[in-house]
Amino acid sequence: MNREEIEEIIRNLGDIPTRIEGKSVLVTGGAGFLGSWICEVLVEQGAKVICLDNLVSGLKSNIYPLMDKANFTFIQHDITQPIFFDEPLDIIMHLASRASPFEFEKYPIQILKANTLGILVALGIAKKHKARFLYTSTSEVYGAATEIPTSEEYRGNVNPIGQRSCYDEAKRCGESYVIAYKMEHGLDVRIARIFNTYGPRMRAEGVYGRVISRFVEQALSNKPITIFGDGTQTRSFCYVTDQIEGLLRLAFVEDGSGTVVNIGNDEEITILELAKVIKELTKSKSEMEFHPLPKDDPQRRKPDITKAKEILGWVPKVRLREGLERTIRYFREKK
Ligand SMILES: NC(=O)c1ccc[n+]([C@@H]2O[C@H](COP(=O)([O-])OP(=O)(O)OC[C@H]3O[C@@H](n4cnc5c(N)ncnc54)[C@H](O)[C@@H]3O)[C@@H](O)[C@H]2O)c1
Repeated sequence: MNREEIEEIIRNLGDIPTRIEGKSVLVTGGAGFLGSWICEVLVEQGAKVICLDNLVSGLKSNIYPLMDKANFTFIQHDITQPIFFDEPLDIIMHLASRASPFEFEKYPIQILKANTLGILVALGIAKKHKARFLYTSTSEVYGAATEIPTSEEYRGNVNPIGQRSCYDEAKRCGESYVIAYKMEHGLDVRIARIFNTYGPRMRAEGVYGRVISRFVEQALSNKPITIFGDGTQTRSFCYVTDQIEGLLRLAFVEDGSGTVVNIGNDEEITILELAKVIKELTKSKSEMEFHPLPKDDPQRRKPDITKAKEILGWVPKVRLREGLERTIRYFREKK
């Protein structure tokens, strides 16, 4: 675990940490990439954290350092199955869902279930405890967006029967459930539409790999860097410390019920350029290898983050090259 980066998040959170201390927080998907960073900051700031995860894509090693903390509990459980808590809960953060595009093809039903049946179980817990509920939705709800940069007002351009539909439509359905619980039960709910996030603890192997972790691993081992399509498609990548700060601001801001907000970095880059930068920073001898573009892969993705700036007082701080250097350092040390 990177102490300095945890301290950096806490510093950047301003006065939010005082609101974290003493709160009971359930984090579903807490052993995953983003969930484990959230758990660590919360534990450090004196929250009582229950991390629930079935470990389908998360790793116990992500949370090992937290296991002996008195204010941390790990429960191995599938959130699509009922579970009850006797002790009071203040906040539920629902992150449980596989999130890599390769997983969309291999485990579409699990993904649909985590964001429909799973969110129902999680919302039921929130209702019983009158707890605040934060849902990690995604930029994928916009599909192949025709409005760039994409604001929260944009309603989406999604193929309901396409290869990515298990994720896109499940997240859209998840958002609908969240809003329904606010309307019908008056629950305090918040939705984060997360744009591509990267950094330490991201997995690179097999179906878990995402573009940056895959490129970094390939570059470090001088293997071909595999680009889908001609690499002219763009993405905007947010470094993990910025993402975690945004999510925690959203979870702990007062009077934030009903907020739906993009959290991502608006520095846009083509995939080919990204591959070149990673090759340069790793001093790799890798060649570029081009593969067919998967169906429904969005051509451009860039968030409009005006709302996050206004409502959360949040701006991404880590520039892409800096974040890539930190990520490359992590993957080098892991080898
Ligand atoms: N990382 C990103 O760039 C990104 C972008 C958009 C949205 N998100 C969303 O953020 C959340 C976390 O993503 P991540 O990148 O940390 O992915 P991740 O795969 O590392 O973490 C997801 C965690 O959820 C767990 N999980 C999955 N299904 C479960 C179930 N049924 N019951 C209990 N646990 C379950 C996994 O084991 C894993 O630990 C996801 O909901 C994802 O859709 C992430």
